[in-house]
Amino acid sequence: MDFSQMLERPRRLRGNPLVRSMVRETRVSKSSLIYPMFVRDGQNILEPIPSLDGQMRCSVDRMGDILEDVAKSGVRSVMLFGIPDHKDEVGSQAYAEDGVVQRALRWAKERFPELYYITDVCMCEYTSHGHCGILCGHEVDNDRTLPLIAKTALSHVQAGADMVAPSDMMDGRILAIRQELDKNGYTGTPIMSYAVKYSSAFYGPFREAAGSAPSFGDRKGYQMDFHNRKEALKEAALDVKEGADILMVKPAMSYLDIVREVADSFDLPVAAYSVSGEYAMIKAASQAGLIDEAAIACEVAASVFRAGAGILLTYYAKELARWIDEGRIG
Ligand code: PBG
Repeated sequence: MDFSQMLERPRRLRGNPLVRSMVRETRVSKSSLIYPMFVRDGQNILEPIPSLDGQMRCSVDRMGDILEDVAKSGVRSVMLFGIPDHKDEVGSQAYAEDGVVQRALRWAKERFPELYYITDVCMCEYTSHGHCGILCGHEVDNDRTLPLIAKTALSHVQAGADMVAPSDMMDGRILAIRQELDKNGYTGTPIMSYAVKYSSAFYGPFREAAGSAPSFGDRKGYQMDFHNRKEALKEAALDVKEGADILMVKPAMSYLDIVREVADSFDLPVAAYSVSGEYAMIKAASQAGLIDEAAIACEVAASVFRAGAGILLTYYAKELARWIDEGRIG
């Protein structure tokens, strides 16, 4: 055989780790990672979350235990979820001045000012029925929920949130929040919209962690049907028009086609949320001795950026930072 005409040899650029990292098409850096964390009412609590092995729930006074690790790892941003002791029909702790997220922000901004604080804006952790808004019969009433979502976002920003991230999936919520923030002088505070949020069984371990599973029915009446692609573009386009600054796709792993499409279709930065079920699956499979946790977690994280996301929310953020330092990803 004569191979003299084979001019293209892709293997030339794979022969050495230095050249491999030189020609890499996707870069993963610590500054593009966001670490989600759970803050609950109560005192002196730092407890493991059974459904999310390796993740902790803390009370406000113990946030330092977690934030210190985050800051040390080089991850710069956190996403705060609140777990109140008291829930009611209208989720009043979501927008209470002394609500758990509001207190968490005041505590943390003072002690860890080097971090960037994003808050999840939703009602499901705060309502007695576990739905993401105000009920009218067994339906979530979109338009009666909007003012409460806007009020929650404003109270987070007043308590120090650097950015708000509404995850409720009510129609018109980005505009409602934007107007409320602007009216109160917070024109410079960005909104990261959970623009494309599917109704997904991948949220199971999170609902266990936050105690936010709906007490009846499901979220299919407001979160998206996982069969749909064009609807994702419609949702994203609406949020762009309403003033969103960042578009998020959620979950990540089974929705990379959507991440790619949203990234190609809009000029805004795109985030992807690698949700609790994705994390739990990797943990469980690695504990069963079936896969190599770090290798899989790195591969999965890189796939999200390769699909076009510029920002990744992941429970693996701190470990990824370490794996970046170790050269396993980056
Ligand atoms: C709603 C919210 C959920 C998640 C983020 N924000 C749960 C839901 O919609 O039921 C899920 C995150 C995860 O699974 O990691 N506040």
